[in-house]
This record gives sequence, C-alpha cells and structure tokens, in this order.
Amino acid sequence: MSKSRQLRIGTDQIKYLLNIGCNMWRKGYRWSKVSAVGNHLCGKNFFSSGGQLSAGGFFKSVRLYRLKNHERKTKVKRTSISAIQAMEILDSRGNPTVRVYVELSDGTTSVASVPSGASTGENEAIELRDGDASRYAGKGVLKAVANVNETLAPALIGMDACRQPLIDRHMIELDGTANKSNLGANAILGVSMAVARAGAMATGLPLYQYLGGVGARRLTVPCMNILNGGEHADNNVDIQEFMAVPLGAPTFREGLRYVAETFHILKKILQKRGLATSVGDEGGFAPNLDSNEDALETIIQAIEQAGYKPGEDIAIALDSAANSFAVDLRGPYDLKWSGAGKMQSSDLINLAEDWLAKYPIILWEDPLAEGDWDGFRQFTDRLGGKIEVVGDDLFVTNTQYIRRGIEEGAANAALIKLNQIGTVSESIEAVRMCRDAGWRYFISHRSGETEDSFLADFAVAMDGGHLKTGSASRSERIAKYNRLLEIEQELGEAALYYWQ
Ligand code: PGA
Ligand code: ZN
Repeated sequence: MSKSRQLRIGTDQIKYLLNIGCNMWRKGYRWSKVSAVGNHLCGKNFFSSGGQLSAGGFFKSVRLYRLKNHERKTKVKRTSISAIQAMEILDSRGNPTVRVYVELSDGTTSVASVPSGASTGENEAIELRDGDASRYAGKGVLKAVANVNETLAPALIGMDACRQPLIDRHMIELDGTANKSNLGANAILGVSMAVARAGAMATGLPLYQYLGGVGARRLTVPCMNILNGGEHADNNVDIQEFMAVPLGAPTFREGLRYVAETFHILKKILQKRGLATSVGDEGGFAPNLDSNEDALETIIQAIEQAGYKPGEDIAIALDSAANSFAVDLRGPYDLKWSGAGKMQSSDLINLAEDWLAKYPIILWEDPLAEGDWDGFRQFTDRLGGKIEVVGDDLFVTNTQYIRRGIEEGAANAALIKLNQIGTVSESIEAVRMCRDAGWRYFISHRSGETEDSFLADFAVAMDGGHLKTGSASRSERIAKYNRLLEIEQELGEAALYYWQ
C-alpha cells in the first residue's frame, strides 16, 4: 500500500477529484483504499466500494490508494461482461429457441435470438433440444438455456466483450466437442451474437460497422424467396426456393421494391389461376403447380407484369436443397413431390443446363445432395462459369468442408448461416476462406427465424453483396429487410449496391 500512488486533493477540488476519479476509472484504474481526511462538511462520506469511486461530500483532503500492478490485472473494463442470462422463446414456426441477454460493466445490455433450420445438413453444429416429450414434443431448449446460465455465464463474466474471437474460442473449448453437441450450438451462438451486439453498443458503433469496419458500406442484393417448395411447403414443387434477384436496381431500397412488387403480382397471377396463395415457412407462396418449370415460368410472368425485364432488372436464384429429394445423401434422386421421378446426378445437371438456356438463372444453391461431391464438381465444371454455384448443406459454414470444396472445385460460393457453425467468429472465418479463394459467399437466414435482425448487419459487415432472408411477408423476414433499409439510410450517399 505504501508504494501505491496517492492522490491528494483539497476541499475546493472535490469536483475535480470526481472528474479525475471517473476518468481514471474509465481508464481501468481501481482503488484499494480511499481515505478521507479532515473536515467532513456535509456529513456525507466519500467511499470506495469494490474499487468503485463515489462521493457525496466535502473533505479537506482525500487520498486514493491505487491498486498495485499485480492487483490491477483484475481490473474491470467498461466493456467487461458483467452478466449473461438466457431464456426460452419461440421462433417463427412456434418452436422453442434460445434468447440471450448480455450485460456489460458500463450498464450496456444487449439481446440476441437464435434461428433454427428445417432442411439441415448432416454436419451442422448440433442444436441442443431437451428431448422431453412432455414439452413442445421434445423440442424444448431448457438444457441449452441452463448451459448458458450455469456454464457459459460464469466462465465468461469478466471477459472483455470486444474480444469476440477470444470469447468464441473459450466457448468452443468449454464445449469440447467438434460439433458443439455438449453445450449446444444454439446456446453458444446466442451468447456469441449477444456479445457482439453488446460490444457494438458499448463502443457506440452500429453492429455492421463494429463487425465490418468503417469500409462496411455495401448493401446486399435481396434474393427474395417468393415461391417455396420442398421441405418448406406442402405442395408438389421439388425445388425448395425460387428467389427473385433485383440485380439491376440502382439501390437496395429500389431493389427491395422491385422484388416486393413482383411478389404481389405473383399473388394475383396465382389467384387468377385458382391456386393457393398461402405462404411457406420463409414467406413465399406455396402453390401446387404443373411442374417445377411451371414455377419458373410463372415467376417470369410476374416479373414482366410488374414492369421489369427478366434477367436485366430481376434475375432468378434457386435453392434445390437436393438433400431433401436424394434417395440417400450421395444421390440418386427422386423428385417425389412433383412426381418427376428418379434421376441421377447427370440428369439433374442436364436439366440445369437446359433451364439455364431458357431462364435468367444466376445462382444455384445445393443443386445436388451433400454427399454427392462428384456431382457438385461436374455441375461446377459445366455451369460454374455462368452462374454462382453455392454449397449449403455441402459446406455447413464449416471451413473444414469449404476447404475441401475449394481444393476440389466443388462449387464457387458457400452459403453462410451463423447457426450451422455456432459462433460469430467461425462464420467470419468461413467468409474469409471464401474471399481468399476468390469465391463468393451468400449470407442466409434459416427457415425458423425470430424478430432479431442481426443477420442484416452481419451481411453488410461481411461485404459479400447478397443475402437471402425470405419473402416480402412474415415479420421475422421483414425485420431484416427493414434493418437493411435503415442501414442504407444511415450510410446515405456512401451506400453501395451492386451484384458483382
Ligand atoms: P433451412 O433451409 O433453414 O430450413 O435449413 C434453408 C436452406 O436450405 O437454405
Ligand atoms: Zn439451402
């Protein structure tokens, strides 16, 4: 104590003392002892509690005994995590999911909610579900919630929220498995996202800038899923997602308008044909159609009737989610919903080539199943020069599989879904690997979502230029579009918008 630095401040300088105290507190100084000496004019005390400094009176002099170096190692930063709390909420399908609250020592509180997929890849990080049949048919997430509250929270409290990679790595180590099956990717991601948001809030930056830096100013082309099939709908269409891509629009705002208008016209066309206009999980229409090609033709009609030029103003992107119609995960395939029947990988590739000649398709995700690496290679060899070939279930946002895909030329882009891998930092690593290889990366929501708009900021931060986050319907989808509108507005003239 005797060698501690002391501040000695006189009666008139009490305000000054407070300023010094507060400023030094912000810089991380802590006091081991405060002694107030002399007259005690207002009958109030000056005290230090747990290193915090506060004052309420006038003193002749006050001494602040600064902590010694070794003691200061435990100093609390403004952005240190002071509390983490999780709870069970519902996602857009009414299934339980995890929400996490993080509090920092400066009082910042953030919240983040975890999405959930339906057409999942085999190698995705594990979403921990309770398996207790008496609650939500076994889909409860109380175990994941408990893992946040009882395991992750005590381990992370005191860590600096701005050290995202360190925090994520610490959680991965605590889990101790390759697929986060111990604590649950839903538990870990909830904390990871809430920590990122807390860091952004405490540093006074919008989340997209906090994660992406000052250069983060490229809005995403909204690949709007306007017609749903496969696992996401109860109809006779095999392809899971038909997306309208407003690549010819001058701005995000206009692009969003192009495809939202197309969505509304599509509804009218379907109504005229006496077809259902109820929507699938991601908000796209889910009618029974004559064939998969009928879906493409109807979308082209909608684009034209909305006043846009197919291919020029609005192109088409597809997600086959071919796992869902593969007989086993390596192929062959059975286009069971449409009744088109059994097909080999080569048949699907020929079909794709045929469609590419007829329709303005610019991106094709999971044209084949996740075990069909040969098929993917052949698809990319034949068509990768013309369109973006995206691996979703094939790569599951995991650098282990993306690396193999790059080495083997299995695709030329990866889908990026935060909950496939389970932390913000690992998702960023997957993006980095794509970028380094000259690949594109396509940021994506899940079919089960919440009102959390984290994804919108994340997509702008990653600077990849496109995202998919559903249709112009269902608030959990619209929340992301609205956040992107906000970001565009905030960026003003600095905002960029282009396809490639
Ligand atoms: P999911 O589907 O979120 O249901 O897994 C999305 C996709 O396949 O891209
Ligand atoms: Zn997909």
